[in-house]
Amino acid sequence: MKALFTLLSLGLFVGFLFIWFGLFNISAKDKHWDITTELLKLVRERSIEVRAENIQVPDLSNPEMIANGAKNFDAMCSQCHLAPGMEPTELNLGLYPQPPVFYNEKHEDHGAANTFWVIANGLKMTGMPAWGDFHTDEQLWEMVAFINQINGMSESEYQALVGEGGHTHKPGFGHDDHDGHGEEASSTSHESLHTEESSNTSHTDMHNDGHGDHAH
Ligand code: HEC
Repeated sequence: MKALFTLLSLGLFVGFLFIWFGLFNISAKDKHWDITTELLKLVRERSIEVRAENIQVPDLSNPEMIANGAKNFDAMCSQCHLAPGMEPTELNLGLYPQPPVFYNEKHEDHGAANTFWVIANGLKMTGMPAWGDFHTDEQLWEMVAFINQINGMSESEYQALVGEGGHTHKPGFGHDDHDGHGEEASSTSHESLHTEESSNTSHTDMHNDGHGDHAH
């Protein structure tokens, strides 16, 4: 009993030293071991499945619903998850874990209820945001309906759905925080972002550091 206690304390102490001396590399460029990846995958899958179990999936075949979902997906999700015809973005390539590319035929479908849950709640420590507080369930289901159809979709089919594009937030609905996705508003906010960036010396230094080919 005493030996077990000593061993346990020693283990905890070594663990503490490991953390304290910064031996764990938090860099997104340092990939997990395969066993860690598998374990995290299992944790994620079980966590989502248990929570999404009782979610009732509505009819997702309505074309208007799919088109609305495409517009919101284009405005809010495509920088990370890409879309038919899109080149990989810095966000898609730089995030770890990398956001899945839904239109890729190899993407595994986890079912509509799970997809809805993830969009509403986001995923801790992955970069996947929670969208549920800013959207109605209807809007979230529209995006699920669209994701259901995206696998193998061609660029022209995608463009036809997105059309004029932009956010389809219904008038009078809550948060305006991210309405900067409308065409005009987004170009202004992007412009100001870039001005800020170029006047920020540390950023400029960073980009000169071997990233001179960046078109920022
Ligand atoms: C800033 C980047 C980012 C944005 C923006 C983003 N996501 Fe994600 N998303 C992620 C990452 C990263 C993951 C993968 C997490 C993982 O591997 O555990 C993810 C995972 C998901 C998943 C789970 C998919 C699967 O097969 O496991 C769904 C569904 C999803 N995102 C939908 C969306 C939708 C819909 C939007 C837009 C409303 C969106 N995401 C916007 C980064 C993003």
